[in-house]
Amino acid sequence: MAFPRTGKIWMNGTLVDWADAKIHVASHVIHYGTGVFEGARCYGTPRGAACFRLDAHMRRLCDSAKIYRMEYRLPQAQMEQAVLETIRANGFQGCYIRPIFYRGYETLGVNPLACPVDAAIMLWEWGPYLGPHALEAGVDVCVTSWWRTAPNTFPALAKSCANYGSAALIKMEATIKGFAEGISLNTDGYLAEGSAANLFLIRDEVIYTPPLAASILPGITRDSVITIARDLGYTVREEMLPREMIYIADEVCLVGTAVEITPIRSVDRITIGGGGRGPITAALQRAYFGIISGEIPDTHGWLTYVYPDSPGAREVARAGTVGA
Ligand SMILES: Cc1ncc(COP(=O)(O)O)c(C=O)c1O
Repeated sequence: MAFPRTGKIWMNGTLVDWADAKIHVASHVIHYGTGVFEGARCYGTPRGAACFRLDAHMRRLCDSAKIYRMEYRLPQAQMEQAVLETIRANGFQGCYIRPIFYRGYETLGVNPLACPVDAAIMLWEWGPYLGPHALEAGVDVCVTSWWRTAPNTFPALAKSCANYGSAALIKMEATIKGFAEGISLNTDGYLAEGSAANLFLIRDEVIYTPPLAASILPGITRDSVITIARDLGYTVREEMLPREMIYIADEVCLVGTAVEITPIRSVDRITIGGGGRGPITAALQRAYFGIISGEIPDTHGWLTYVYPDSPGAREVARAGTVGA
């Protein structure tokens, strides 16, 4: 997807034109991947634009920064406000949100501690990540030959730029082999996740997902889907899952900010269930898309309304939850 190359980008507290949002080629992050970032979404609702779980995303950004000893000078609450200001400055009703903290320009020794921690927030309009029909028809995936990083190598709980070297290898291998996505195993051979999404399996009406100890990113969508599934009365088990469990599942889906809830119709050319979107995946999608579109009540307080003059924003402001 090509960028529109217009609008404003937030850089260290200043809104700059898209074309001027530049950093020096000697910045530490370019050479050593010393950055942490987030991917969140803002959706149009009948009560105005609303960010989905902005507080959870910005908390994970601050957690990632803490793990990498690169805390930014603004606290989480001010970064949330900065996201809202940037959306307002661009006038978006719906967009993808990409905040990043990165080690900037000072030295190129491997030790990053002397380099400044800089921050930026980019926004752009981004449609369905795996194509327009994926949410309904499902996608074909493979189990990739690249393992997820081992514990005590790269911290899987941190959404760090460096982890996406692994994600890129997984995605390239899958794409070159003709699949939409690759599912990685962890170093013990258990199911882990996709290159940029978490994994759910359903068998005999029980929902399974790998635990955090399987070297996965603690996805905000994963957490939302677990909550929604339990609200709907399903049993959800977070447990280590052997590879072969994916082939004999009744339904499989990938979940994440980008893929939302995307059904998987085959794995390694083995058809999953009926080869399309299963009934429980469809029920999870209905609830998830209902909440993010503002069509069903947001009982968990997951939406932050962007524009202060929207009716939704006034209601939320009175409840005292705007900007966390
Ligand atoms: C490796 C990986 N796993 C899982 C996810 C899903 O996380 P979230 O639901 O917070 O977007 C992502 C999202 O980018 C990811 O990169």
